Amino acid sequence: MRYVDIIDLHIFGDHRGSLISLEANSKVVPFDVKRVYYIFDTKEDVIRGKHAHKNLEQLVIAVSGECNFYVDNGIEKKTIKIDHPSKGIYLKGMVWREMMDFSEDCVLMVLASEHYDVSDYIFDYEDFLKTARENF
Ligand code: TYD
Repeated sequence: MRYVDIIDLHIFGDHRGSLISLEANSKVVPFDVKRVYYIFDTKEDVIRGKHAHKNLEQLVIAVSGECNFYVDNGIEKKTIKIDHPSKGIYLKGMVWREMMDFSEDCVLMVLASEHYDVSDYIFDYEDFLKTARENF
């Protein structure tokens, strides 16, 4: 199973500008959305995230500005630049994630498949590695 996919979101564009529609049920968003949150006004040099989820799907979009999105599945690590509202980062399965290098105007919107549940988080990197490797 792939742990991260980049989804090119369709832009409805005309002389007035652009529009992107996010519809669940596999049309655009590959899961039913139960929660949306957004991160903005992030201070310089801050690294957010630094956790994994046991059971959560997420679609992350920089609706304004840009940042770097670091993902690690316990074996492979990569950093993806999110720099356009049409670029969706889809996360599934055991993924350690960190967000960094936020531009001042960055608004990072996250669609999630489940309600907020702190017991779904893994905050310790060694715990994450252990759990991720058990699942390979
Ligand atoms: P936090 O998990 O630290 O954000 P990030 O991992 O993106 O850096 O969340 C900051 C606070 O917001 C923390 O007190 C938990 C709370 N929170 C909610 O209440 N609901 C949510 O859906 C999320 C994502 C966070």
